[in-house]
Amino acid sequence: MGGQDDIRIGVLGLGHVGLPTALAFSEMGWPVVGADHDGEKVRRIASGESPFYEPGLGEVLRRHLAGGRFRVTDDVGAAVREANVLFICVGTPQHPDGSPDLSQVEAVVRQVARNLNGYKVIVEKSTVPVQTAHWLKVTLRRYRTGNHEFDVASNPEFLREGTALRDCLYPDRIVIGVDSPRAREVLLRIYWPWVERGLPPDRLVVTDLQTAELIKHATNAFLALRISYINLIADLCEATGADVVEVARGMGLDPRIGPHYLQAGLGFGGYCLPKDLRAFIRVAQEHGVDFSLLREVERINQARIERFLTKVRRALWVLKDKTLALWGLAFKPGTDDIREAPSLQVVQRLLQEGAAVRLYDPAAMGNVRRVVPPSDRVYYARDAYDAVEGAHALLLLTEWEEFIRADFAAVKGRMALPIIIDGRNALDPQRLKALGFEYSGMGRG
Ligand code: UDX
Repeated sequence: MGGQDDIRIGVLGLGHVGLPTALAFSEMGWPVVGADHDGEKVRRIASGESPFYEPGLGEVLRRHLAGGRFRVTDDVGAAVREANVLFICVGTPQHPDGSPDLSQVEAVVRQVARNLNGYKVIVEKSTVPVQTAHWLKVTLRRYRTGNHEFDVASNPEFLREGTALRDCLYPDRIVIGVDSPRAREVLLRIYWPWVERGLPPDRLVVTDLQTAELIKHATNAFLALRISYINLIADLCEATGADVVEVARGMGLDPRIGPHYLQAGLGFGGYCLPKDLRAFIRVAQEHGVDFSLLREVERINQARIERFLTKVRRALWVLKDKTLALWGLAFKPGTDDIREAPSLQVVQRLLQEGAAVRLYDPAAMGNVRRVVPPSDRVYYARDAYDAVEGAHALLLLTEWEEFIRADFAAVKGRMALPIIIDGRNALDPQRLKALGFEYSGMGRG
């Protein structure tokens, strides 16, 4: 790779990480070919439609498809041959024991090996355990055709669902793990446009492969730890009459702590935090490090659902034959993703106890419907107000903006009983109490 024009990026795997990543590269001026073996997904992307809900993504996709800077194919081998810097963005699910399942990573790397036709840099972007880069190198050497050279790099992605594109375009930092000057130079060139657009150069963390891999898992586990910590504080607040929202605010103003990831509630869900936490525990265990600290983080998180249900029972006594309105089903606002969403467990438990549920979410209804079919006790509402019709309590599970801004006088008029249980501490207790609601949050005195 000589001049600037030589870099041709390939992004392998076009899911929640791959597609925003690919489009951010296009946005920064690089030609990108995106590949995924799922033909149906590729057809949707090629027609300008994002295969999942992610604000702003569709528009950027259509712009770069039209401008020719982004192309998409289901021929992964062809994409490998065409590109010379390959970002691996395939899924890393988990085995039943919580350890990471790297079979998709291995399969795509074998495909890369078989299609090497010149020097390439193969970059891990999916979250993988420390020392995966070592195995990528072994696999590439074992399966490569010819004697083409390659380098492996680690460039973990920190984007959040719901703000994926913004996170890719304006990251807090960019972590690059390399073990060769050549790979270092290629990746620095790729990311230079970010520096030109204002990323301070000291926010480019260039380090070795293992360190880069560890930064990602250590970050997600730490975020999870903060959430479980504040959730325990919430329980203590509840027992002592303190308000966890104020405690978190008071803590967060300390610059050594900062305000983020101190929102108490139903706990963390989604595809990353719970899974990465479990994977990190397993990886540490394999290397002889006892991470019982993180096991506690997981245990505390799992106990949030029961804690929440206890509140519902306390408010309504018996749940059998009660009707509950549920606002918010996605694992967090801004996404239609329901993987490891606390809402699914809440719905299942309420149904087991004989309650009927009226569900509403601005984006995730279709996904939930596939796992919880409508029935005489499961109603999919047309909107937030339809959901509360005749309900004995309203449970807020995901803090979408439209719920925070709802007309609660109108809500009260439709409910059978004016009871709100706020699983995210997103609503204003004073306002609701003034309207005559019985309100309970998570750790609010
Ligand atoms: C996370 C990481 O933030 C991101 O850097 C990584 O690349 C992927 O995993 P994401 O899964 O999109 O991103 O969700 P995030 O916004 O981090 O929230 C995770 C979960 O924690 C959500 O269920 C959210 O509701 C919950 N959460 C978050 C809290 O309960 N309290 C908080 O204070 C913050």
